[in-house]
Amino acid sequence: MSGSYERMNFITSFGFSIRWRRQFLQTLPGSDSTLKVIDLLTGMGESWKPIKQKYPNCELTALDFSEEMLKHAHRRNDKTFEKSVAIKQADILQSNLPADHYDIITCSFGLKTFNEQQLQVLAHEIKRILKEGGYFTFVEVSEPKNWLLRIAYSFYLGKVIPVLGRLFLGDPREYKMLWKYTSAFKNADHASTIFAKAGLKVSSLSFFFGCATGFYGTK
Ligand SMILES: C[S@@+](CC[C@H](N)C(=O)[O-])C[C@H]1O[C@@H](n2cnc3c(N)ncnc32)[C@H](O)[C@@H]1O
Repeated sequence: MSGSYERMNFITSFGFSIRWRRQFLQTLPGSDSTLKVIDLLTGMGESWKPIKQKYPNCELTALDFSEEMLKHAHRRNDKTFEKSVAIKQADILQSNLPADHYDIITCSFGLKTFNEQQLQVLAHEIKRILKEGGYFTFVEVSEPKNWLLRIAYSFYLGKVIPVLGRLFLGDPREYKMLWKYTSAFKNADHASTIFAKAGLKVSSLSFFFGCATGFYGTK
């Protein structure tokens, strides 16, 4: 999906994804210090701008395992961020990131494809790499609880988006996965419980009547 991901992301969420990427960071305390920040499942670096606005002097690392997504991320790094972002290609479920290292961990729209066991590994990994007193925040597209909104949203994501996907991409299959994953994921409550069980302090987030949910917290 890397060729059309950013455009489609904007359209599929009516531009809300940009707002949600700003909002999920609002849960964190800002700082001018040289904090170590890592953006997990960074994709093409869609969250870098709001992260850099919030942490202008941070050392930003960005991690993703997709070579194609990272090609776009490298382009963005060269063009807009003066190569200031350290891009790392790795699987977060088996990375060799340093322990007790990061002040801030962010992750936008990366949770929905993880199963139960992977979420447990993820939670332990966050606990391992985060400094004592460090913060994390996650956001994901979700199924709203209100039935009317859920019907409208499922029709839009499940039926309209694949058609738009065909127009942009020539193949609606990838975009059919969006609703498939979202309806299976439902919302971030379960992931949040898994993070709490791993020993992290967690609070829930909900944006636009539950069309995006997430959680944030500290170690
Ligand atoms: C939906 S995109 C989100 C991209 C970006 N964070 C955003 O806000 O749009 C999810 C990304 O997670 C990456 N990803 C999924 N599982 C991963 C894993 N286990 N380790 C590293 N990256 C992963 C995918 O390659 C993809 O780029």
